[in-house]
Amino acid sequence: MKTTVRPKMTPVLKWAGGKTQLLQHILSAMPDSYNRYYEPFVGGGSVFLAIAPENAFINDINPQLINLYKQLKNDHAAVLEALDKLDSHECDKDFYYEVRENYNQKIAENKQDTECTALMIWLNKHCFNGLYRVNKKGLFNVPYNNRITGKSVDKSNVEAIANFLHDSNTTITCGDFEAACSDVQAGDFVYFDSPYLPESETADFTDYAKGGFPLEEHKRLAKLYRRLDAVGAKLMLSNNDVPLVHSLYEGYSIRSLDVKRMINSNAAKRFGKEVLITNY
Ligand SMILES: C[S@@+](CC[C@H](N)C(=O)[O-])C[C@H]1O[C@@H](n2cnc3c(N)ncnc32)[C@H](O)[C@@H]1O
Repeated sequence: MKTTVRPKMTPVLKWAGGKTQLLQHILSAMPDSYNRYYEPFVGGGSVFLAIAPENAFINDINPQLINLYKQLKNDHAAVLEALDKLDSHECDKDFYYEVRENYNQKIAENKQDTECTALMIWLNKHCFNGLYRVNKKGLFNVPYNNRITGKSVDKSNVEAIANFLHDSNTTITCGDFEAACSDVQAGDFVYFDSPYLPESETADFTDYAKGGFPLEEHKRLAKLYRRLDAVGAKLMLSNNDVPLVHSLYEGYSIRSLDVKRMINSNAAKRFGKEVLITNY
């Protein structure tokens, strides 16, 4: 079953590793047909939302992010109402840090509700560079972007996502990628977009731990890839184009893609290479 492309749905959050730039390459590299769609590192969901599969399993380890998908599925009107309230307040530095404090209170209390989702979306819009970064205690610590204006969301996009999540057969889970793939069967399609290995070949091993996804995790992921390949699932995986990725996925089809990086003071670093690895 080839899924319908619904260009109207785009990510609600700006998320590190978002795939908007590579979307057309990813879509054209997808298999022509498959049964169920799995995305165990869904993040902002740029690929999931673009293909809008009817039968899907989406997962991420970030509880607030997964709460966002669940809240949009179950009560998006309450999320939009809470966002309206936040947006009606002029944003200055004091208000930003007040909202951040409220959000961190939700994280500390593990309280996942509509308000937590509204706070998360609002902060993503008003924080520096749309970054999502937490400290060792798991609390959001990105500073203010010093801009006052701007609605936090495109309501029609949120409504389209909410309707889609509600009407489709989408299972939303929060946990580890391996557990999220425990029921993958022959003919299912899995797209893996884990945190990347560092670009630099000279990076030492401690650098692999940045983003909470150390080298051991990349090895565990590569083992899972081979296991699911043996099951008969169709698989696609993204990462930086570095030698270690080539050796972890030796034997599979590896295509290299040029990508533009975020503005870098060093002109040579404004372009990079990523890979798409498939087993079909
Ligand atoms: C590169 S991002 C995915 C970006 C996504 N494709 C997008 O378009 O926004 C990687 C995601 O993996 C999640 N993650 C990190 N470790 C994980 C784990 N062990 N299991 C599941 N998800 C994990 C992070 O929370 C993050 O959202």
